[in-house]
Amino acid sequence: MTSPAAHDVDWDKLRAAARDAMSRAYAPYSGYPVGVAALVDDGRTITGCNVENASYGLGLCAECGLVSELQNSGGGRLTHFTCVDGDGEILVPCGRCRQLLYEFGGPELLLQTPAGILPLSEMLPQAFGPGHLRK
Ligand code: THU
Repeated sequence: MTSPAAHDVDWDKLRAAARDAMSRAYAPYSGYPVGVAALVDDGRTITGCNVENASYGLGLCAECGLVSELQNSGGGRLTHFTCVDGDGEILVPCGRCRQLLYEFGGPELLLQTPAGILPLSEMLPQAFGPGHLRK
């Protein structure tokens, strides 16, 4: 399925889904709840929230939950993504999570960032990905 162009997407609605997920975050150690939401190329909307751990380094970013939900709800390709902080404001995904998103969205995945809608290729230039392993 062809992904809809950036301007066809209701980013406010997607961000509302991310805020809703953020409200369910488990972030007692950092006090920094995060929520994410993405569109899948079949029209699904999926979400995630961060889940921390008493063993601090084991905390899961919200994007971990999102890619898990993606796979566990039928797979597919991510086309549009947004991330919010505890105030519901647009947040950039951390570096590790950009790599997680690259696996399932590739360079064309559109991200809502504080600097506007950008393709993942601009947020993670020269990315390592599945293509390298196929060489
Ligand atoms: N966090 C995310 O969930 N995603 C990001 O892209 C940035 C950081 C979480 C991890 C941790 O639970 C909290 O934010 C503070 O770093």
